[in-house]
Amino acid sequence: MNIGKVSNRVEGVSPFYVMDIMARAKALEETGRQIVHMEVGEPDFSTPKPILEAAKAFLDIGNVHYTKAQGLPALRDKIAEYYRQEYNVTVSAERIFITPGASGALTVALASLLDEGDEVLTADPGYPCNSNLIRLFGAKAKAVGVGEAEGFQLTGERILQSWGGSTRGVMIASPSNPTGTMVDREQLSDIVTAVHEQDGFLISDEIYHGLVYQQRAISALEITDDVFVLNSFSKFFGMTGWRIGWLIVPEYAVSAATRLMQNLYIAAPTHSQYAALAAFNDDTRKILLQRRDEFEQRRDALYDGLKALGFVMEDKPQGAFYIYADCSAFTDDGYAFALELLDKGGVATTPGKDFGQNQPEKYLRFAYTTTMESIELGLERIKAFLKSYKKGD
Ligand SMILES: Cc1ncc(COP(=O)(O)O)c(C=O)c1O
Repeated sequence: MNIGKVSNRVEGVSPFYVMDIMARAKALEETGRQIVHMEVGEPDFSTPKPILEAAKAFLDIGNVHYTKAQGLPALRDKIAEYYRQEYNVTVSAERIFITPGASGALTVALASLLDEGDEVLTADPGYPCNSNLIRLFGAKAKAVGVGEAEGFQLTGERILQSWGGSTRGVMIASPSNPTGTMVDREQLSDIVTAVHEQDGFLISDEIYHGLVYQQRAISALEITDDVFVLNSFSKFFGMTGWRIGWLIVPEYAVSAATRLMQNLYIAAPTHSQYAALAAFNDDTRKILLQRRDEFEQRRDALYDGLKALGFVMEDKPQGAFYIYADCSAFTDDGYAFALELLDKGGVATTPGKDFGQNQPEKYLRFAYTTTMESIELGLERIKAFLKSYKKGD
């Protein structure tokens, strides 16, 4: 009898440990405590006004039907134009799919590529959903431990060393969640060369592009057309709740991605697609660039503050809104430390345990998705907490 039993595949899907932290933070807030939230992986800014106005104008007409599975042609054209302007690459709109967030893009990319028993190389620490999604398609993530010395990113060399008989491809993310670190053009070229040498696929998660400070993020499309690139309106564009992103596939996968979009989603949310048409306007861009500058100031304040308190970060992260800080000077158990920092210090963070098996107990992820005042208050609280905290407590 299988009544009451969920699939073995789902049994192996890991939970987000940060949910424990969030639930605990909420419980503390209900008792009247005020918590500084540095665990949240989404911008605190609201959706830019021009995008809201475009959505309202569309909703006023009330004609909210499905779009084509690939998405609105006008939005796909805008994204193609964005790639011309931002990256100086030509991508035909036929290769662009509008998806329910980067999450939908990841699902379509992995479903297009994986067969039972395949293996995919992923960086550890990395975005936790990747290995769970890979698992849902009957394949397996092979986590490759990456450390501070290599900027927490895979390299061509590590890829070739780790490639096994069942390996089919590689997933990278630059800037990375949880580390905010990036690959430069040379590293990215090496990665592409290594993957192609093995006749494998490359999935490049570029969701944090736009939130990059003092430099330019390189798209894998600048190096090759034989890549699956995903991005989203969630982060730089401030549209997490609208559930809209995009996937660019190589020519050979256009038919597969079309059929998967039809079957998995029918289409991405229509009102979100109409809203996103305003995401590339000049007035929206002005707002987004101001926000990016604000994120940069927050990063600098948090980085300097954490360093002064004794957290170790080799380099300042170049993008996203995260700092992955080594807290081993204070604790051998980052998860217990995160819980205690919340309980006694009133600061919520994400434990390294959420991002893999590679020495997670040494790390905490701090998100600067909160105001400068709140970051300053958080740093003061951490300082006070550390005074009374003893290793092994
Ligand atoms: C690296 C990375 N990829 C993909 C996603 C999924 O984002 P969304 O589905 O909101 O676009 C996230 C969300 O935090 C992420 O950090």
